[in-house]
Amino acid sequence: MTDTTIEPPTVSTRRAATMDKVAALCKRRGFVYPGSDIYGGLANTWDYGPLGAELKRNVKDLWWRTFVHRRRDVVGLDGGILMHPRVWEASGHVVNFNDPLVDCRTCKSRFRADHLIEERLGQHAEGKSPVEMTAILQAANLPCPNCGNRTLTDARQFNMMFQTTIGPVSETGTQVYLRPETAQAMFVQYKNVLATARVKLPFGIAQVGKAFRNEITPGNFIFRLLEFEQMEIEYFVKPDAGAAAFEDWLSAMRTWLRSVGVRDEHLRVREHAKDELSHYSSRTVDFEYAFPAPMGWKELYGLANRTDFDLRQHQEHSGEDLTYFDQETNSRYLPHVIEPTFGVDRTLLVLLLDAYDEEETLDVNGKPDIRVVLRLHPRVAPYKAAVLPLMKKPELAEVARRLFERLEGEVGVLVDYDETGNIGKRYRRQDEVGTPFCFTVDYDTLEDRAVTVRDRDDMSQVRVPIADAPAWLRDRLA
Ligand code: GAP
Repeated sequence: MTDTTIEPPTVSTRRAATMDKVAALCKRRGFVYPGSDIYGGLANTWDYGPLGAELKRNVKDLWWRTFVHRRRDVVGLDGGILMHPRVWEASGHVVNFNDPLVDCRTCKSRFRADHLIEERLGQHAEGKSPVEMTAILQAANLPCPNCGNRTLTDARQFNMMFQTTIGPVSETGTQVYLRPETAQAMFVQYKNVLATARVKLPFGIAQVGKAFRNEITPGNFIFRLLEFEQMEIEYFVKPDAGAAAFEDWLSAMRTWLRSVGVRDEHLRVREHAKDELSHYSSRTVDFEYAFPAPMGWKELYGLANRTDFDLRQHQEHSGEDLTYFDQETNSRYLPHVIEPTFGVDRTLLVLLLDAYDEEETLDVNGKPDIRVVLRLHPRVAPYKAAVLPLMKKPELAEVARRLFERLEGEVGVLVDYDETGNIGKRYRRQDEVGTPFCFTVDYDTLEDRAVTVRDRDDMSQVRVPIADAPAWLRDRLA
C-alpha cells in the first residue's frame, strides 16, 4: 500500500453541527444554494445544488420504496398543485389556515404573535386565539424585536395560502391557490382510486410533492420555507380502527427515521394538546428533533387522526357520495383517515445536522487540523463511492476509469471520479460530501490488480482485488 494514503489518528467531536456550519458546507459543496443568488437572493428561498438534488432524490426514492412499493396496502398518486378553489373551502383551509400576526406601527416589521410569545416570553402559544395572544403581549408590554419601540399592534389572523390567477386577465380570471399540503388530492381522488386500484380498507394513498405556504417568519436555513416538499400518506380505515392504525404508523415512522440514520437521542414524540390540534384532527403527535441552539426541539414530522373530517367535507361540498361499501358487513360508511406526514426538506436538514462531524487531526505537514466529515447513512449519501487514481497519470487513469464504469454500471449507484489535487485533499473533499468509500488506484494496483478502499468513518483501509470491487461495494451498501 502506498504511504501517501495513510492518515493520522483523529479525535471525534460529535455534535459539532451548528446551523451556520452546515449551511456553509452546503453552499461550499453544492448541496444548497441561496435562491436567486446572483440577484442578491430572495429571502427564504433555496435551491438544491448537484449533491443536494441527489440527497433529496435518494430520500424520496427510499421513502417511496418503503411506504409504497414494499407495502401491499398503499398506492401512489401524483396530483396537481392547482386544484379547484372549492377544495380549499371544503378542507377548511380558507377559513382556518391562518397564522396570527402582529405589526410594529413604528418600523412596519411583521411577526408571528405565537413565535414572539414562545421565543421572547417562553410561553407556549400555539392554538391560542388572537385575542388571547394580544392579551399576553400587552400584559408583557413587549417591545418590537426590530426597533425596540413598544408599538406592536393587536394580533390578527393572516391566511397562509398563496393565491394566483388562471386566465390572462387578473380581474376576470379564476382565483386559485397553490396547495398548502399535498393531502387534499388524496381525498379528492379517493373515489377514483377506489374504483380503479382494486383496494379494500384498510389502504393508503401516498404522494410526494411541493406545497406552498406564505410563512411570515420563515428562516433557520431550510427549516421553514415558503415552498417545500411533503411525503404524505392518507391511510383509510374502518371508523373504529383509527386508534390502532395510529399506533402502527407511529411505529412505522420511527422505523423509517432509524433506517435513514437519524439518531434516537435527537428525537422525541410530542402529543398535541387539545387546543393546538389542527381544525381537522382529533389526535396529533409530532416527531420533534433537537435542532442546534438556539432552535431546540422543533417539529420534524407529524401524525394525525383526521377522522372522517375531509371525506365528509368533500362529500358535502361536491355532492358526490364518498361512502365506502363494506362487503363484509353489507353497510356503507365514510372511512376514517390516519395521516403520517414527512417534510422532505426537514428530513434533509436533520440528516445533514446529524451527519456533520468534526475531528481533530493532523494535516499532511503534521500541523493540527480539523477533518469535517458528513457521516451520512450510505443509503442516502449522494455518492456511494469515489474512484481516485493516486496521480494524474495515463496508466493509473486507464485502470481507474474502467473501475469507475464497472462500479457505476454493475452496482447501479452514483460514483464520483476525481483525479485533481493531492490524495489527502481528495479524501477530505469526499469526507465533506459524505462519500462512504474511496477506491484508490495506485502503482501497486498495476502489479497486484487490487485497490485500496478507504472507509469515510474511521479512515481504515483495506486492499480489495479489482475484480471483486463491484461485489464488495454492493455488499457494503446492502
Ligand atoms: N397534511 C398535513 C400537514 O401538512 P403540517 O404539520 O402542516 O401537516 C407536515 O406539515 C410537514 O410538512 C411538517 O411536519 C414539516 O415536516 C413540513 N413543513 C410544514 N411547513 C413547512 C415549511 N414552511 N417549510 C418546510 N417544511 C414544512
